[in-house]
Amino acid sequence: MALADVARAFGSAARQYDSRAHLQQQVADWLLEAVPARVNTALDLGCGTGYCLARLNAQKRFGLDISRAMLLEARQKAPDCPFIQADAQHLPLATGSVDLLVSSLALQWCSDLSLALGEVDRVLAPGGQALLTVPLAGSLNELASAWGKSQGHLLAMPDENNLAAMLPTGARLKVKDFVVHFDDLTALRQSLKGIGAHHVPGRAQGLTGKARYRQFVAAIEAKRTPLGLPLTYRIGLISWQNAFL
Ligand SMILES: C[S@@+](CC[C@H](N)C(=O)[O-])C[C@H]1O[C@@H](n2cnc3c(N)ncnc32)[C@H](O)[C@@H]1O
Repeated sequence: MALADVARAFGSAARQYDSRAHLQQQVADWLLEAVPARVNTALDLGCGTGYCLARLNAQKRFGLDISRAMLLEARQKAPDCPFIQADAQHLPLATGSVDLLVSSLALQWCSDLSLALGEVDRVLAPGGQALLTVPLAGSLNELASAWGKSQGHLLAMPDENNLAAMLPTGARLKVKDFVVHFDDLTALRQSLKGIGAHHVPGRAQGLTGKARYRQFVAAIEAKRTPLGLPLTYRIGLISWQNAFL
């Protein structure tokens, strides 16, 4: 998706984002467990409404996002913080200027993930730490099996090997599955927009399309548990520390 479209999509979702971001909050809490006690300068990259940013303990902390509407929401949670509206793939920040860079479920939106990872590495100060979460291939398997396709058509997610090849030497990748539950397919579909998945099967035209859609709904409903319709996300937590000079 083009950058302007990403900004527009999050712009219109910003007001309701927190009420739908259950997965995002669970994943952010996992990332935050690894955050060091206190640092000088901390950046939340793709900060959205500021869930991580508000929980960072730093002398100077700031948020960056491509969506102005998201930043306006974040300002309410962290009124003391400066904010920058910019693209993660071209950070308007000095080389070696950030001691801690966190980014939760944002970098999957970048059309060039390796460019964004390079920018993260560039802005880290000597000894600085990066903590990033991204969804990985293998997520959304319930949808893929119900629709009879690989999940690749829903969201371009790197597999672990491809991702590992893009990371700086010494980076670590931990993988964890998160299962979220939804009352119905509408709620499930809305939540997917928040992480960047599109082309989720919808009601189709024509007899074949309608029959196929009914099969899809039946296959999804067959997976229902007492908690609701399950959807599994495979999340990678990437961490590395920049070398001391
Ligand atoms: C799923 S939200 C996650 C927000 C927040 N990190 C959280 O955990 O709730 C993704 C965020 O990434 C931002 N984003 C997407 N592409 C971006 C880019 N290229 N540069 C900066 N921010 C971007 C979106 O505007 C959105 O706020």
